[in-house]
Amino acid sequence: MSAAVRPAGAAENAGAKVIIAHRGASGYLPEHTLEAKAMAHAFGADFLEQDLVLTKDGVPVVLHDITLEAVTDVEDRFPGRNRPDGKFYAIDFTLAEIKTLNVHERVDTKTGKPAFRSRFPQGLGQFRIPTFEEELQMIQGMNASRGMSAGIYPELKSPAFHHAEGKDLAAAVLPILKKYGYWGKATPCFLQCFEWPEVERVRKLGYPGQLVFLMGKTEVRMSESGDAVPLDASALKRIAEVADGIGPALGMVVDLKSPTLAPTGLIDKAHAAGLVVHPYTIRVDVPVDASRPDGAILFDAVLGKAGADGVFTDHPDRGVAWKRGR
Ligand code: G3P
Ligand code: CA
Repeated sequence: MSAAVRPAGAAENAGAKVIIAHRGASGYLPEHTLEAKAMAHAFGADFLEQDLVLTKDGVPVVLHDITLEAVTDVEDRFPGRNRPDGKFYAIDFTLAEIKTLNVHERVDTKTGKPAFRSRFPQGLGQFRIPTFEEELQMIQGMNASRGMSAGIYPELKSPAFHHAEGKDLAAAVLPILKKYGYWGKATPCFLQCFEWPEVERVRKLGYPGQLVFLMGKTEVRMSESGDAVPLDASALKRIAEVADGIGPALGMVVDLKSPTLAPTGLIDKAHAAGLVVHPYTIRVDVPVDASRPDGAILFDAVLGKAGADGVFTDHPDRGVAWKRGR
């Protein structure tokens, strides 16, 4: 499935490193708003990411969390609509209700303070949660009006949670991908998911396009029992039978504690298995340590020295600038 596949979907990017706008240009505007996506498009990002969850009425919307309180005013607008754990689940709200929410910069729900210190201020602006289709229409419209071919990078968020709630996220998302032309390896789309059973399942459901297995640790849950197995050559080979690439956390591909941000070797092993590697996430305002605050160092380490095929970043302008400066 994977051996011949190299990035990216957009024809003019073939063989190049790809800059993936993580939740849009989320370093500058509230994440996953259409405004953040327009800015990422204008910056020249190769791909724009969409995290996807379902509403109560089964509509895929672009939202990172399965809950709403970290990025919206849901607590003020719908008091009492939380579950016993205190959280406001998107799946408990209709699309019409979700559309009334104002989106703000992410807050740490434990402290109520902004998750990132110097990003878009709280209390300013009016932003909405877009549906997946609204976002695809906007991206395809900007591609047409700007003569560009930015790709999409949708993520199926928490499919097991959705199944437990009696909902099928993949079954809602795949027809939309087909409708908008993202149906094949040569189309500018990577579908991604953290849950291996769902990665396997989307193939069984007939998804023919590029597919990425996300992971946060060097042990991955792939076995029938759900036990974690080491991410060795045998696991990578098995992944490559189904998926086209992996999306590991940054610290899995470079040693964030080493002064030189030395490659860990995972990218070479994944390439040997025929997989592309798109690590996440470079944030230039979150230094890997206080002495190395420059995001360019990370772009250099991850895309340059370690040899990743692309990278997710909250600051796609910096990634595009890094590419242009090569
Ligand atoms: O999908 C790549 C990266 O976005 C994974 O992390 O939590 O930001 O979705 P997360
Ligand atoms: Ca994501």
